[in-house]
Amino acid sequence: MISALTPEDVQYATVSNKNIEIRKASMQDIPALLNLINGYAAKGVMLPRTEFEMSENMRDFMVAYDGNVLAGCGAMHFYSPTMGEVRSLAVAETHKKHGIGRLMVDALVYEAKMYGLDAVFAFTYVDGFFAKAGFHTVERGELPLKAWKDCLRCPKFQACDEIAVVKVLRPQRWEQKQPNYPPVLGVEDGNVVLLPILKN
Ligand SMILES: CC(C)(COP(=O)(O)OP(=O)(O)OC[C@H]1O[C@@H](n2cnc3c(N)ncnc32)[C@H](O)[C@@H]1OP(=O)(O)O)[C@@H](O)C(=O)NCCC(=O)NCCS
Repeated sequence: MISALTPEDVQYATVSNKNIEIRKASMQDIPALLNLINGYAAKGVMLPRTEFEMSENMRDFMVAYDGNVLAGCGAMHFYSPTMGEVRSLAVAETHKKHGIGRLMVDALVYEAKMYGLDAVFAFTYVDGFFAKAGFHTVERGELPLKAWKDCLRCPKFQACDEIAVVKVLRPQRWEQKQPNYPPVLGVEDGNVVLLPILKN
């Protein structure tokens, strides 16, 4: 069970005979985090981060270390009293497919539960990975508008091919809070289509 919520509270997990240290990130992790995240951003699979953004959002981050090598990271960003987003999830190429990504997601979801969130979501290209961690695919329009904040500065904003996935943590509360919107119909290219429901 992962329960690390401060940089001092370190948890260990053994994956593929490696003892992986998991904890909340601290400012000293920033250079290694930027290196990992921006390496993937250069390949177009993640959003780039700056040192300023990392500092501002450092409390969101969880890190996984193999000795002194940053093996993985991920962030839990709170959007509302009920929802949070898994962001900046990355595992070093040298450490992929050993269960570290799953460890990160489980740690972030645990944290979301500790803070009383009803659900967590992610925008991703690896929906298969998230499905294994208990997320399911939803229409992007089902997420709160605020969750699209990062999209505004994404180079793929006009042609987004990311998939929205959600993991419900408190099913009863989540269902109760889902507004029962009637379907919204519109016309696109001469066809009647169901428009995305945008919630504030
Ligand atoms: C996606 C990523 C975080 C997965 O990390 P990982 O440590 O290799 O994944 P794990 O070893 O923990 O895999 C857990 C499970 O998901 C599966 N899985 C891993 N990557 C997958 C993928 N791309 N597609 C489908 N399933 C995948 C594994 O087979 C494993 O399944 P199992 O439980 O049946 O054995 C890693 O590949 C990565 O950093 N990718 C580049 C950055 C990225 O795309 N981040 C996501 C942004 S939302």
